Amino acid sequence: MNKQFDVIVIGGGPGGYIAAIRAAQLGFNVACIDEWKNANGGPALGGTCTNVGCIPSKALLQSSEHFEQAGHHFADHGIEVKGLSLDMAKMVGRKDTVVKQNNDGVLYLFKKNKVTFFHGRGSFASSKDGLYDIKVAGTAEEVITGKHIIVATGSNARTLPGTPFDEEIILSNDGALRMLDVPKKLVLIGSGVIGLEMGSVWRRLGAEVTVLEGLPTFLGVVDQQIAKEAYKAFKSQGLKIELGVKVGEIKTNEAGGKKSVSVAYTNAKGEAQLLDVDKLIISIGRVANTIGLSAESAGLRLDERGAILVDADCKTNLPNVWAIGDVVRGPMLAHKAEEEGVAVAERIAGQHGHVNFNTIPWVIYTSPEIAWVGQTEEQLKAAGKAYRAGTFPFLANGRARAIGDTTGMVKMLADATTDEILGVHIVGPMASELIAECVVAMEFRASSEDIARICHAHPSLSEATKEAALAVDKRTLNF
Ligand code: FAD
Ligand code: NAI
Repeated sequence: MNKQFDVIVIGGGPGGYIAAIRAAQLGFNVACIDEWKNANGGPALGGTCTNVGCIPSKALLQSSEHFEQAGHHFADHGIEVKGLSLDMAKMVGRKDTVVKQNNDGVLYLFKKNKVTFFHGRGSFASSKDGLYDIKVAGTAEEVITGKHIIVATGSNARTLPGTPFDEEIILSNDGALRMLDVPKKLVLIGSGVIGLEMGSVWRRLGAEVTVLEGLPTFLGVVDQQIAKEAYKAFKSQGLKIELGVKVGEIKTNEAGGKKSVSVAYTNAKGEAQLLDVDKLIISIGRVANTIGLSAESAGLRLDERGAILVDADCKTNLPNVWAIGDVVRGPMLAHKAEEEGVAVAERIAGQHGHVNFNTIPWVIYTSPEIAWVGQTEEQLKAAGKAYRAGTFPFLANGRARAIGDTTGMVKMLADATTDEILGVHIVGPMASELIAECVVAMEFRASSEDIARICHAHPSLSEATKEAALAVDKRTLNF
């Protein structure tokens, strides 16, 4: 007889592994199937986020920021660095160690919570009497049976038509995080989150970086006052960003044993341009991954973009089959996937799991960092909502001056009548951490006055949030 489970989770990324752990905590007998392999062919739990996403990118962002600081900013603090050099193999090795610690951490959590792990590809085989048979194709092949199935198969990088990733010259996020030499010249197509984070890493390490963006607006989803401030900062760092381009032919070339890639494009003025560079990173978004899941033969409905169709509760069209994370609608973020995983496990247990899409924070881990929650000024205007805005620059914050990082601001938007906070937008130091207070405030439906009346430690960057709240009422104390 097949092994039987109450819940089978397909995919062990942040959506899947968190769903499995929460379901196990709620008393279910849970299996999780994940196919990711490490360099030795062993399991590497944690999905895109752990292996080629959030974790390795943040490790390299940190290392490259240290290099940038040592090379360009330590002198401001009276610290002289002589003979600064880069050991890329060591930097990449450290990043790999951080990844492995996280992979092993998930395996440990599965043992601790008694989640049965299967290493291999899971696919729908058949269903009968309200139970689903799931085939696991790993080193061995077996079929397991479950009552509830949670699909958390994530996403893959999208490329341009006719330009497959070779991960040597034409790179996705995977290759972009594995380069052992700093390219002299690098082009990124797409100035979204990956374009800016990876562009920053390789620029700090010495590459001449050009980012080509199709849209005429920089970071169109971000509050435009914040986006403009960020654009200025990136430009002054030497990151070349061209907006409104149309990418044409991409060709790989080889001369004298050296490979390169040429990217033809038309710039915003309509002029034909050609860049010949060492590496190209394509970062134009990601597509939901249902490869090898036998989703369609199982009758699972997909939307027009290939994502699994779900309702607000992450229910698919098949009874007791759920889908979460990047493989469904909504922002492709690890914490959104995790929240959906917890909510689905709780719904299976008859509880009322809930994900508040209005308070999902976004962070771009560049320098300055960009973070936001809630609505932008542009969205409020488009919705005809009456609001008051308050901004406070880090230039006027004592801690920011002491740190030596005064770029950017905090911007708070509040309802003109009720004063409820509708959105907070930050560009500046530690924006990733500062946004947490704003998420809590919005979850509790706080007003800007609530934040203005709360005692914030001095000197701290969080005082800029308090001052932005005071600014909503036009009564900043330090500016
Ligand atoms: P995934 O993490 O993609 O996991 C899916 C898992 O399912 C994988 O392990 C895959 O191998 C496995 N799988 C797929 N099909 C099968 C199958 N049939 N059988 C068995 N296993 C299968 N988000 C943030 O919130 N913060 C960040 O800082 C951040 N940085 C990022 C940086 C980069 C470069 C990239 C590419 C992404 C980043 N993201 C970040 C996005 C984040 O990685 C994703 O939103 C998140 O990983 C989605 O989680 P998931 O569980 O839905 O899918
Ligand atoms: P993205 O959606 O953030 O940005 C893609 C960019 O490419 C957009 O600006 C788009 O206009 C542009 N583009 C699309 N087609 C183009 C074309 N043909 N030519 C030129 N430009 C084009 O996607 P990205 O950067 O690939 O990241 C994918 C997702 O991964 C993100 O949306 C995010 O969900 C997640 N991620 C999250 C991170 C974080 O939370 N810090 C970090 C990295 C990724």
